[in-house]
Amino acid sequence: MGGFTVEGGHRLEGCLTVQGSKNGALPLLAASVLVSGTTCLRNCPDLTDTRYALLILNGFGCKTSFHNNTAVIDSTAADRFCIADETMREMRSSIVFLGALLGRFGRAEVSAPGGCEIGLRPIDLHIESLRALGCVIEEDGSRLRCSCPNGLRGATVALSFPSVGATENLLLAASVAKGRTRIINAAREPEIVELAGFLNRCGARISGAGEGILEIEGVASLTGCEAAVSGDRIAAVTYMTCCAVTGGRLTVRGVDYNSLMPLVAPFEKAGCRLEHERGEIRFFAPQRLKGFGMVRTMPYPGFPTDSQAAFAAMLCASDGTSMIVENIFESRFKYIAQLNKMGADIRVEGRIAVIQGVERLHGAAVESPDLRGGSALVTAALGAQGVSRVTGVQYIDRGYENFEGVLSSLGAVIERK
Ligand code: UD1
Repeated sequence: MGGFTVEGGHRLEGCLTVQGSKNGALPLLAASVLVSGTTCLRNCPDLTDTRYALLILNGFGCKTSFHNNTAVIDSTAADRFCIADETMREMRSSIVFLGALLGRFGRAEVSAPGGCEIGLRPIDLHIESLRALGCVIEEDGSRLRCSCPNGLRGATVALSFPSVGATENLLLAASVAKGRTRIINAAREPEIVELAGFLNRCGARISGAGEGILEIEGVASLTGCEAAVSGDRIAAVTYMTCCAVTGGRLTVRGVDYNSLMPLVAPFEKAGCRLEHERGEIRFFAPQRLKGFGMVRTMPYPGFPTDSQAAFAAMLCASDGTSMIVENIFESRFKYIAQLNKMGADIRVEGRIAVIQGVERLHGAAVESPDLRGGSALVTAALGAQGVSRVTGVQYIDRGYENFEGVLSSLGAVIERK
């Protein structure tokens, strides 16, 4: 199986323009089947998940192309509304196509995503809220057969948790529903603001994105447009933690500093410094990182669950103790057993990980359990003494474009073989 060989201890320094956002691109790709005509998405990251999303669109009958990080999707001939079970298994976030299909065809057939590497990903909130808009959803084994016998109708939907995926599905379907929809306790993630902004440019009437209450005045139809996917805030943080474990410095371009605000204080507590000026973020790491007390993962603008593993890896060789409470997904600490193989001292009790900083990690053979857990193992390996072998890179490839190439350009010694 392919893997990365990483020689630790080389200081990372330099400048990088961060890739387009995976979590930003996927809902826009889903939206492209809802809108009529052609959608052109620039700065689309070249990832396995992007390729799967384009295959799903082809399955609906859309014409797609993808060159130089630009995806072009023509939905004119789309006439199918099913996603095969195997595709749903490969990319669980494909549930976001549900709202787009319902908006376009008034029908959809997908499978429930089920369990995955980071724990169960239930879709009860998606189903409940789409039902509130007039969808009839029948569960037939693992398949969901959805239809809207009387069309989509606006409604007030109060989410019991500000689910990112459920908010995205609601935005997509409600944009073309009859009448007004209000989403109470909507997710406030930057990716929601990005999707709402894109849909508005296609003709939707959405207000309140980024706040807890969203209002959508349904319109008859939407027309495709051109947009650039935002820079990936999670990838930016990953590269900062990679730099931090080597005591390096980094200039990061192409990502909105405001989207990183929830991370600034935790980075500072660990002894790092961030400056931002004229669209550039400068990141400085100390000689020795400090334990940073406690952090809890929360919906935005809280500390993101997607950066939890990166921070744990960064703090393994810090001076002091750190504690991370994972509140979003129940099974997101699988990578910790692998970090402990590298000499880390981390204990997990339920949703809490306690990291006792050690002097230095040592190289080891480790296996990625999931996307962010896998990239965190590379972070740890970059700061460790000696050589590490990180396998399971297919997970890392789902979220990072040319991960080893970017790290090598900053001075890391990493090879894929
Ligand atoms: C989550 C993250 C998002 C991240 C994405 C990719 C949060 C709040 N969401 O989004 O920032 O970009 O993963 O890693 O941090 N839930 C239900 N029922 C549902 C839907 C969700 O119980 O129908 C629960 C989940 O089990 C989980 C929580 O809500 O505990 C977060 O879910 P949600 O925001 O929907 O997850 P994603 O959309 O995957």
